Amino acid sequence: MAEIIDGKKIAAELREEIRKEVAALKEKTHIAPGLAVVLVGEDPASQVYVRMKGKGCEEAGIASFQHILDPMTTENELLALIDTLNNTKDVNGILVQLPLPRHINEERVLNAIDPGKDVDGFHPVNVGKMVVGDENCFYPCTPYGCQILISRYVKDLKGKHLVIVGRSNIVGKPLANMMVQKNDRANCVVTVCHTAAPDIGYFTKQGDILVVAAGRQNVVTADMVKPGAVVIDVGVNRIPHPDDPSKTKLVGDVDFEGVSKVASAITPVPGGVGPMTITMLLQNTLKAFKIQNSLM
Ligand code: GUN
Repeated sequence: MAEIIDGKKIAAELREEIRKEVAALKEKTHIAPGLAVVLVGEDPASQVYVRMKGKGCEEAGIASFQHILDPMTTENELLALIDTLNNTKDVNGILVQLPLPRHINEERVLNAIDPGKDVDGFHPVNVGKMVVGDENCFYPCTPYGCQILISRYVKDLKGKHLVIVGRSNIVGKPLANMMVQKNDRANCVVTVCHTAAPDIGYFTKQGDILVVAAGRQNVVTADMVKPGAVVIDVGVNRIPHPDDPSKTKLVGDVDFEGVSKVASAITPVPGGVGPMTITMLLQNTLKAFKIQNSLM
Protein backbone atom coordinates (compact mmCIF):
# COMPACT_ATOMS: atom_id res chain seq x y z
CA MET A 1 0.00 0.00 0.00
CA ALA A 2 1.20 3.48 -0.87
CA GLU A 3 2.25 5.97 1.75
CA ILE A 4 -0.27 8.82 1.93
CA ILE A 5 1.36 12.18 1.20
CA ASP A 6 -0.01 14.44 3.90
CA GLY A 7 -0.22 17.79 2.11
CA LYS A 8 -2.08 19.30 5.02
CA LYS A 9 0.74 18.55 7.44
CA ILE A 10 3.52 19.70 5.10
CA ALA A 11 1.53 22.87 4.33
CA ALA A 12 1.04 23.55 8.05
CA GLU A 13 4.80 23.25 8.69
CA LEU A 14 5.61 25.63 5.83
CA ARG A 15 2.91 28.09 6.93
CA GLU A 16 4.38 28.16 10.41
CA GLU A 17 7.79 29.04 8.94
CA ILE A 18 6.17 31.79 6.84
CA ARG A 19 4.30 33.12 9.90
CA LYS A 20 7.53 33.33 11.89
CA GLU A 21 9.39 35.11 9.09
CA VAL A 22 6.51 37.56 8.59
CA ALA A 23 6.46 38.30 12.34
CA ALA A 24 10.22 38.92 12.38
CA LEU A 25 10.02 41.23 9.34
CA LYS A 26 7.10 43.15 10.85
CA GLU A 27 9.12 43.65 14.02
CA LYS A 28 12.04 44.94 11.96
CA THR A 29 10.21 47.13 9.42
CA HIS A 30 6.92 47.97 11.18
CA ILE A 31 5.06 47.13 7.98
CA ALA A 32 3.14 44.01 7.02
CA PRO A 33 3.04 42.14 3.71
CA GLY A 34 -0.29 42.59 1.93
CA LEU A 35 -2.19 40.54 -0.64
CA ALA A 36 -5.11 41.85 -2.70
CA VAL A 37 -7.52 39.18 -3.92
CA VAL A 38 -10.03 40.14 -6.59
CA LEU A 39 -13.13 38.06 -7.28
CA VAL A 40 -15.57 39.00 -10.03
CA GLY A 41 -18.95 37.31 -9.76
CA GLU A 42 -20.48 34.65 -7.58
CA ASP A 43 -18.96 31.32 -8.65
CA PRO A 44 -19.38 29.18 -5.48
CA ALA A 45 -16.05 27.33 -5.82
CA SER A 46 -14.20 30.62 -6.36
CA GLN A 47 -15.93 32.12 -3.31
CA VAL A 48 -14.63 29.22 -1.20
CA TYR A 49 -11.07 29.60 -2.58
CA VAL A 50 -11.07 33.36 -1.99
CA ARG A 51 -12.26 32.90 1.59
CA MET A 52 -9.55 30.29 2.21
CA LYS A 53 -6.91 32.65 0.79
CA GLY A 54 -8.10 35.40 3.18
CA LYS A 55 -7.96 33.02 6.14
CA GLY A 56 -4.49 31.78 5.13
CA CYS A 57 -3.22 35.38 5.01
CA GLU A 58 -4.71 36.22 8.38
CA GLU A 59 -3.09 33.20 10.05
CA ALA A 60 0.28 34.08 8.53
CA GLY A 61 0.10 37.74 9.60
CA ILE A 62 -0.30 38.94 6.01
CA ALA A 63 -2.83 41.74 5.42
CA SER A 64 -5.62 40.60 3.12
CA PHE A 65 -7.49 43.08 0.93
CA GLN A 66 -10.49 41.38 -0.65
CA HIS A 67 -12.28 43.00 -3.58
CA ILE A 68 -15.51 41.16 -4.29
CA LEU A 69 -17.00 42.64 -7.45
CA ASP A 70 -20.43 42.42 -9.01
CA PRO A 71 -20.77 39.84 -11.85
CA MET A 72 -21.62 42.69 -14.22
CA THR A 73 -18.34 44.55 -13.55
CA THR A 74 -16.88 45.69 -16.87
CA GLU A 75 -13.39 44.86 -18.07
CA ASN A 76 -12.44 48.56 -17.85
CA GLU A 77 -13.62 48.76 -14.25
CA LEU A 78 -11.53 45.71 -13.39
CA LEU A 79 -8.50 47.12 -15.23
CA ALA A 80 -8.91 50.39 -13.30
CA LEU A 81 -8.90 48.49 -9.99
CA ILE A 82 -5.76 46.60 -11.02
CA ASP A 83 -4.09 49.89 -11.90
CA THR A 84 -4.93 51.23 -8.44
CA LEU A 85 -3.61 48.07 -6.75
CA ASN A 86 -0.43 48.19 -8.86
CA ASN A 87 0.17 51.65 -7.38
CA THR A 88 -0.83 50.91 -3.77
CA LYS A 89 2.22 50.55 -1.55
CA ASP A 90 0.56 48.31 1.07
CA VAL A 91 -0.36 45.80 -1.64
CA ASN A 92 2.62 43.55 -2.37
CA GLY A 93 0.73 40.84 -4.22
CA ILE A 94 -2.29 40.89 -6.53
CA LEU A 95 -4.36 37.85 -7.42
CA VAL A 96 -7.38 37.86 -9.73
CA GLN A 97 -9.38 34.72 -9.11
CA LEU A 98 -10.06 32.68 -12.26
CA PRO A 99 -12.24 31.93 -14.12
CA LEU A 100 -13.45 35.42 -14.97
CA PRO A 101 -16.95 36.03 -16.37
CA ARG A 102 -17.07 35.47 -20.13
CA HIS A 103 -17.43 39.17 -21.00
CA ILE A 104 -13.96 39.89 -19.54
CA ASN A 105 -10.79 39.08 -21.48
CA GLU A 106 -8.61 37.03 -19.11
CA GLU A 107 -5.40 37.66 -21.02
CA ARG A 108 -5.80 41.45 -20.95
CA VAL A 109 -6.51 41.35 -17.21
CA LEU A 110 -3.56 39.10 -16.29
CA ASN A 111 -1.23 41.20 -18.48
CA ALA A 112 -2.31 44.35 -16.60
CA ILE A 113 -0.96 43.11 -13.25
CA ASP A 114 2.47 44.51 -12.33
CA PRO A 115 4.79 41.48 -12.86
CA GLY A 116 6.50 42.33 -9.54
CA LYS A 117 3.15 41.87 -7.76
CA ASP A 118 1.99 38.88 -9.83
CA VAL A 119 2.04 36.30 -7.01
CA ASP A 120 0.02 33.87 -9.17
CA GLY A 121 2.90 33.78 -11.67
CA PHE A 122 0.55 34.08 -14.65
CA HIS A 123 1.97 37.27 -16.22
CA PRO A 124 3.95 36.58 -19.42
CA VAL A 125 7.06 38.20 -17.87
CA ASN A 126 7.02 35.67 -15.02
CA VAL A 127 6.14 32.80 -17.36
CA GLY A 128 9.05 33.77 -19.62
CA LYS A 129 11.52 34.00 -16.72
CA MET A 130 10.37 30.61 -15.45
CA VAL A 131 10.89 29.03 -18.88
CA VAL A 132 14.46 30.33 -19.21
CA GLY A 133 15.30 29.36 -15.61
CA ASP A 134 15.53 32.89 -14.17
CA GLU A 135 14.58 32.35 -10.52
CA ASN A 136 13.80 36.05 -10.05
CA CYS A 137 10.15 35.30 -10.85
CA PHE A 138 6.98 34.03 -9.22
CA TYR A 139 6.15 30.36 -9.78
CA PRO A 140 2.45 29.53 -10.17
CA CYS A 141 1.19 28.27 -6.82
CA THR A 142 -0.25 24.85 -7.69
CA PRO A 143 2.75 23.52 -9.67
CA TYR A 144 5.08 25.09 -7.08
CA GLY A 145 3.24 23.14 -4.37
CA CYS A 146 3.48 19.95 -6.46
CA GLN A 147 7.23 20.49 -6.83
CA ILE A 148 7.68 20.75 -3.06
CA LEU A 149 5.67 17.57 -2.45
CA ILE A 150 7.62 15.70 -5.14
CA SER A 151 10.99 16.81 -3.79
CA ARG A 152 10.05 15.52 -0.33
CA TYR A 153 9.17 12.05 -1.61
CA VAL A 154 11.72 11.55 -4.38
CA LYS A 155 15.25 11.77 -3.03
CA ASP A 156 17.29 12.21 -6.21
CA LEU A 157 15.18 13.82 -8.92
CA LYS A 158 17.98 13.87 -11.51
CA GLY A 159 16.91 11.90 -14.57
CA LYS A 160 13.63 10.67 -13.09
CA HIS A 161 10.82 10.44 -15.60
CA LEU A 162 8.00 12.82 -14.65
CA VAL A 163 4.80 12.25 -16.59
CA ILE A 164 2.17 14.99 -16.43
CA VAL A 165 -1.42 14.46 -17.54
CA GLY A 166 -2.96 17.79 -18.55
CA ARG A 167 -1.57 20.84 -20.36
CA SER A 168 -3.30 23.76 -18.64
CA ASN A 169 -1.59 27.13 -18.28
CA ILE A 170 -2.22 26.91 -14.52
CA VAL A 171 -0.72 23.46 -13.82
CA GLY A 172 0.54 21.17 -16.60
CA LYS A 173 2.55 23.60 -18.72
CA PRO A 174 4.24 25.50 -15.86
CA LEU A 175 5.03 22.28 -13.95
CA ALA A 176 6.70 20.80 -17.04
CA ASN A 177 8.83 23.93 -17.39
CA MET A 178 9.80 23.99 -13.72
CA MET A 179 10.69 20.31 -13.50
CA VAL A 180 12.86 20.25 -16.61
CA GLN A 181 15.19 22.98 -15.24
CA LYS A 182 18.71 22.03 -14.26
CA ASN A 183 18.59 22.41 -10.47
CA ASP A 184 18.27 20.16 -7.40
CA ARG A 185 14.47 20.61 -7.22
CA ALA A 186 14.04 19.46 -10.81
CA ASN A 187 16.32 18.00 -13.50
CA CYS A 188 13.65 15.47 -14.52
CA VAL A 189 12.91 14.02 -17.94
CA VAL A 190 9.41 15.37 -18.57
CA THR A 191 6.53 14.08 -20.68
CA VAL A 192 3.27 16.01 -20.98
CA CYS A 193 0.31 14.05 -22.26
CA HIS A 194 -3.17 15.36 -22.90
CA THR A 195 -6.48 14.77 -24.64
CA ALA A 196 -4.87 14.40 -28.06
CA ALA A 197 -2.88 11.32 -26.93
CA PRO A 198 -4.53 8.19 -28.36
CA ASP A 199 -3.52 6.17 -25.28
CA ILE A 200 -2.60 8.13 -22.17
CA GLY A 201 -1.75 4.89 -20.32
CA TYR A 202 1.16 4.26 -22.71
CA PHE A 203 2.83 7.36 -21.23
CA THR A 204 1.62 7.25 -17.61
CA LYS A 205 2.98 3.69 -17.19
CA GLN A 206 6.49 5.03 -17.78
CA GLY A 207 6.37 7.69 -15.07
CA ASP A 208 8.55 7.37 -11.97
CA ILE A 209 6.52 10.39 -10.89
CA LEU A 210 3.00 10.97 -12.16
CA VAL A 211 1.14 14.27 -11.82
CA VAL A 212 -2.48 14.25 -12.90
CA ALA A 213 -4.18 17.57 -13.61
CA ALA A 214 -6.76 16.65 -16.21
CA GLY A 215 -9.90 17.99 -14.54
CA ARG A 216 -11.84 14.74 -14.82
CA GLN A 217 -12.49 11.91 -12.39
CA ASN A 218 -10.80 8.48 -12.87
CA VAL A 219 -8.52 9.60 -15.70
CA VAL A 220 -5.79 7.40 -14.20
CA THR A 221 -6.48 3.88 -12.94
CA ALA A 222 -4.18 1.28 -11.33
CA ASP A 223 -3.31 -0.45 -14.65
CA MET A 224 -1.93 2.88 -15.95
CA VAL A 225 0.63 3.36 -13.13
CA LYS A 226 4.21 2.07 -12.87
CA PRO A 227 4.63 0.04 -9.65
CA GLY A 228 6.36 2.19 -7.03
CA ALA A 229 5.55 5.50 -8.71
CA VAL A 230 4.94 8.68 -6.70
CA VAL A 231 1.50 9.98 -7.69
CA ILE A 232 0.34 13.59 -7.27
CA ASP A 233 -3.38 14.16 -7.89
CA VAL A 234 -4.22 17.79 -8.66
CA GLY A 235 -7.87 17.10 -9.57
CA VAL A 236 -10.79 18.55 -7.63
CA ASN A 237 -14.11 17.04 -8.76
CA ARG A 238 -17.33 17.35 -6.81
CA ILE A 239 -19.52 14.27 -7.23
CA PRO A 240 -22.75 13.06 -5.59
CA HIS A 241 -21.89 11.24 -2.34
CA PRO A 242 -22.11 7.44 -2.94
CA ASP A 243 -23.79 6.85 0.46
CA ASP A 244 -26.05 9.90 0.50
CA PRO A 245 -27.02 11.46 -2.86
CA SER A 246 -28.24 14.61 -1.08
CA LYS A 247 -24.59 15.33 -0.25
CA THR A 248 -21.50 15.81 -2.40
CA LYS A 249 -18.00 14.46 -2.11
CA LEU A 250 -14.64 15.73 -3.39
CA VAL A 251 -12.54 13.36 -5.48
CA GLY A 252 -9.41 13.80 -7.56
CA ASP A 253 -8.59 12.75 -11.12
CA VAL A 254 -6.97 9.49 -9.98
CA ASP A 255 -8.76 6.30 -8.88
CA PHE A 256 -7.31 6.60 -5.39
CA GLU A 257 -8.31 3.18 -4.10
CA GLY A 258 -6.87 1.25 -7.03
CA VAL A 259 -3.76 3.37 -7.59
CA SER A 260 -2.79 3.39 -3.90
CA LYS A 261 -2.22 -0.39 -4.22
CA VAL A 262 0.40 0.17 -6.97
CA ALA A 263 2.08 3.50 -6.14
CA SER A 264 4.72 3.99 -3.44
CA ALA A 265 3.21 7.32 -2.36
CA ILE A 266 0.06 9.20 -3.32
CA THR A 267 -1.70 12.47 -2.46
CA PRO A 268 -5.29 12.24 -1.21
CA VAL A 269 -8.09 14.58 -2.33
CA PRO A 270 -8.83 16.57 -0.26
CA GLY A 271 -5.70 17.07 1.87
CA GLY A 272 -2.98 16.67 -0.76
CA VAL A 273 -2.15 19.41 -3.23
CA GLY A 274 -4.96 21.81 -2.17
CA PRO A 275 -3.43 23.03 1.12
CA MET A 276 -0.06 23.47 -0.63
CA THR A 277 -1.47 25.85 -3.26
CA ILE A 278 -2.47 28.53 -0.74
CA THR A 279 0.78 27.99 1.17
CA MET A 280 2.79 28.81 -1.95
CA LEU A 281 0.63 31.90 -2.49
CA LEU A 282 1.63 33.08 1.00
CA GLN A 283 5.26 32.25 0.20
CA ASN A 284 5.08 34.28 -3.05
CA THR A 285 3.46 37.21 -1.23
CA LEU A 286 6.27 37.17 1.32
CA LYS A 287 8.83 37.08 -1.53
CA ALA A 288 7.11 40.04 -3.23
CA PHE A 289 7.15 41.98 0.06
CA LYS A 290 10.84 41.30 0.56
CA ILE A 291 11.80 42.30 -2.98
CA GLN A 292 9.69 45.47 -2.91
CA ASN A 293 11.21 46.52 0.40
CA SER A 294 14.81 45.52 -0.45
CA LEU A 295 14.82 42.86 2.26
CA MET A 296 16.49 40.12 0.22
N1 GUN B 1 -8.44 29.32 -10.27
C1 GUN B 1 -8.04 28.05 -10.14
N2 GUN B 1 -6.75 28.00 -9.71
C2 GUN B 1 -6.35 29.27 -9.58
C3 GUN B 1 -5.13 29.87 -9.18
O1 GUN B 1 -4.13 29.22 -8.86
N3 GUN B 1 -5.11 31.21 -9.17
C4 GUN B 1 -6.17 31.97 -9.55
N4 GUN B 1 -6.06 33.30 -9.52
N5 GUN B 1 -7.32 31.45 -9.92
C5 GUN B 1 -7.41 30.12 -9.94
